[in-house]
Amino acid sequence: MRKTLTTIIALALVAGGVAACGNSDSGGDGKIVLGFSQVGAESGWRTANTKSIQDSAKEAGITLKFSDAQQKQENQIKAIRTFIQQKVDVIAFSPVVESGWDTVLKEAKAKKIPVILTDRAIDSKDTSLYKTFLGSDFVEEGRRSAQWLVKATEGSTDPVTIVELQGTTGSAPAIDRKEGFAEVIKADPKFQIIASQTGDFTRAKGKEVMQAFLKAHKDIDVLYAHNDDMALGAIQAIEEAGLKPGTDIKIISVDGVKDAFVAMTEGKINVVVECNPLLGPQLMDIVKKVVDGQETPQRIVTEEGVFTADQAAAALPNRKY
Ligand code: AHR
Repeated sequence: MRKTLTTIIALALVAGGVAACGNSDSGGDGKIVLGFSQVGAESGWRTANTKSIQDSAKEAGITLKFSDAQQKQENQIKAIRTFIQQKVDVIAFSPVVESGWDTVLKEAKAKKIPVILTDRAIDSKDTSLYKTFLGSDFVEEGRRSAQWLVKATEGSTDPVTIVELQGTTGSAPAIDRKEGFAEVIKADPKFQIIASQTGDFTRAKGKEVMQAFLKAHKDIDVLYAHNDDMALGAIQAIEEAGLKPGTDIKIISVDGVKDAFVAMTEGKINVVVECNPLLGPQLMDIVKKVVDGQETPQRIVTEEGVFTADQAAAALPNRKY
């Protein structure tokens, strides 16, 4: 009898998901508690990503502890340590930069708190420090950006001068998008990157750096911006300099936020390589699996497309971010 009762209780706990999230003393209601450390609010992409995570947590019945690092690694490390102290069930984060995470992630591992990387990867040899990495293939995004340029200039041997607005220094998307783009253009010496500098993924910095590029170089053919916000800031700088963005200077951007699609319909951006921020639903599924002890793949790549200016008007009404 005693054995039957124990079995019934154990089954009930598993069915209710309570057994799986016993780690947390911060929820108290039997719900899974997820600590999420976000990079910041630097771009339209990021705002959409945050909303997707917050909405999906609510829908999935997961208690979300959300922390905004304001683009600073030290704030993310602090937030992760706080989540460890609070004994959350799972920690997820989008690392502002690639390196410097081993110590804090070892602390999480020592307390048996699983970690999920979302959006951005870390540069660590120890892959046991996280369960999975959910996000885009940034190198491929860089390649796709360059492939558009190769096609757009096909048949011409004229030199193509390029300025590059890089994302946050040391971040995975800045490193990878640069690498993927360079890998493709190196096949033809007509492509020359004449200036490359960080615009920190923000409109203000994108504008400021583009102003400096325009002052220093009279012969810019192409702007490659690692995200839409920097491209949109640069458009202002180009217009203020009396030039036509998209015509006098061709613009390649990454992300695919609505404002960039509007700029494409106005002919101010030539191509946008999509980077999908709506990672919330997939993240919540992974969180549940991890808490449940199920296996997850080490890497989950987001599916994305490429949109040219002539496709923008038709695509705009369907854009979700
Ligand atoms: O990590 C994704 C990148 O971060 C997006 O391209 C950019 O807009 C954001 O800030």
